[in-house]
Amino acid sequence: MSGGMKTQRVTIHTLRQMKERGEKIAMLTAYDATFARLLDEGGADVLLVGDSLGMVIQGNDTTLPVTLDEMAYHCRAVVRGTKRAHVVGDMPFMTYQSSVAEGMANAGKLIKEGGCHSVKLEGGAQHAELVSRLVAAGIPVMGHIGLTPQSYHQLGGFKVQGRETGGRERLVADALALEEAGVYALVLEAIPADIAREITEKLTIPTIGIGAGVACDGQVLVSYDMLGMDETFKPRFVRRFATLGTTIKDAVGQYVAEVRGSTFPSDAESFAVTEKQAPQSPLYSTVAKK
Ligand code: KIV
Repeated sequence: MSGGMKTQRVTIHTLRQMKERGEKIAMLTAYDATFARLLDEGGADVLLVGDSLGMVIQGNDTTLPVTLDEMAYHCRAVVRGTKRAHVVGDMPFMTYQSSVAEGMANAGKLIKEGGCHSVKLEGGAQHAELVSRLVAAGIPVMGHIGLTPQSYHQLGGFKVQGRETGGRERLVADALALEEAGVYALVLEAIPADIAREITEKLTIPTIGIGAGVACDGQVLVSYDMLGMDETFKPRFVRRFATLGTTIKDAVGQYVAEVRGSTFPSDAESFAVTEKQAPQSPLYSTVAKK
């Protein structure tokens, strides 16, 4: 047995303590094991297997087509890639809106089959009963209010929320109702910064903002957006911390040129019959995995 210290997994209790200590929470989306490992090793506290995968992975215009089985598949991959981050699985559109019983069964499936550590669902006070039943069943729930992308058609598109008359009061009431029902954290998406500040001050659970200003207890971004995978997509609330889209295209261009010019592969990247290695030596050196 190895004598090394096992990495402590971030839990919903860690996140609450971070708010109490005034430590900001860094959350990112993840959809596969390789990215999850990089984001985990980079220090992200929470990885959300967001239904945004319907857009950035599947290429749809909205998150609406994503299924529960697809979410479970991506959750399994992300969990396998992590050691420290808390992994949240998004409940897809129409897997919890029609009844509490259906929401319970589907959240249970995401935890059992996806292996994620908690679930996230969109919407306010209307989901209070479902949230309290899930929490009573031992399933931690992250809430999500403001711009809720599953209501794309109802909202008339991806738009900042809460500016209309009564909007602030409605958002505050939804936040308080969800906290009361038992959510352990709340995503605030695309709402004015001063409303997010008010909600953050009123709640004892952490708020995680996306396009909701700096006062939130933490921030979340779609990893593909903050890594600059798509040079044409740069909404105001996204900061690009890398330009991987350009880096990848440059690398592919270089590869294509070297294949065409017969400079790849070199002799060192090829095999010879006469080498001293055993004929059936492994193709890859096994770098320590986990
Ligand atoms: O699906 C998603 O990625 C999300 C985040 C943007 C919060 O819900």
